[in-house]
Amino acid sequence: MLEDEVIWITGASSGIGEALALELGKQKTRLALSARSGDKLEQLVQRVRALGQAQAHAFPLDVLDRVGNRSCVAQIRECFGSEVSIFVPCAGTYKTSDSLHRYSSDEHIQLMQLNFFSLLYGIEAVLPAMLERKHGQIVGVSSLVGYFGLPRAFGYSASKGAIINALQSLRFELRNSGVQVKCVNPGFVKTPLTDKNDFEMPFLVTAEFAARKMIEALHKERFETHFPLSLSLVFKFLRILPQPLFEWIIKKVVYRGR
Ligand SMILES: NC(=O)c1ccc[n+]([C@@H]2O[C@H](COP(=O)([O-])OP(=O)(O)OC[C@H]3O[C@@H](n4cnc5c(N)ncnc54)[C@H](OP(=O)(O)O)[C@@H]3O)[C@@H](O)[C@H]2O)c1
Repeated sequence: MLEDEVIWITGASSGIGEALALELGKQKTRLALSARSGDKLEQLVQRVRALGQAQAHAFPLDVLDRVGNRSCVAQIRECFGSEVSIFVPCAGTYKTSDSLHRYSSDEHIQLMQLNFFSLLYGIEAVLPAMLERKHGQIVGVSSLVGYFGLPRAFGYSASKGAIINALQSLRFELRNSGVQVKCVNPGFVKTPLTDKNDFEMPFLVTAEFAARKMIEALHKERFETHFPLSLSLVFKFLRILPQPLFEWIIKKVVYRGR
């Protein structure tokens, strides 16, 4: 099924995006790989090609460049002779917040720009052709953290919540258009991003596991793919609690009663 698609992955030079490219590279797919680090992308292209199945090309891009997103999509079209039909924006980052000691709107705005605005630019670049062809998938990457605001995650929770809500809305708006809109919500995944974390990460999964779940998402019609189940069930339970009970549990777990 994926054989006929052109799959554009941003954030492909590292972590989840890289693992996704390598997992998809085991199949007959056409992969357009983007990130800022052209050298890492070129190495990844070689690794994907070495698997002997997929066609892969690097398209270096700063996803914050609105016009750049459009020219990147045009380059992909020219290279493969076909439009991007599956868009998987994995570019993103995380920074802990500490509003008591160093509140910075700049920090939060940067997170919103990279995690959320870049998604908007990417959609703007791929959507017209998808609508014209009545065919396509937009598969955003949010997080279980996007379900609610958590301590130390001011800008991150906000950016990931924005992704979930925006994609839910887009899915309604594009119903019957032939363009499917989906959202992947991972828990903790071992990548260079989380390697920086100084706190315990329950139910940590590998990037390869995350990549397999994302490929599952490409094959399903449902909106949300969440994992690992053990953690997402906890988050889904917390989400439906009344605020006072939710707060009590989070304080107990995160601040250990402090
Ligand atoms: N790891 C987790 O536990 C976890 C959990 C839930 C959700 N997520 C989400 O999954 C996504 C990927 O995370 P990850 O853990 O794989 O992180 P990662 O290993 O740090 O990879 C981030 C990727 O984003 C790219 N990127 C960053 N800024 C960019 C820019 N301005 N333009 C283009 N590309 C840019 C980086 O490449 P360059 O530096 O080369 O540009 C890199 O390829 C993020 O959206 C993250 O929020 C991760």
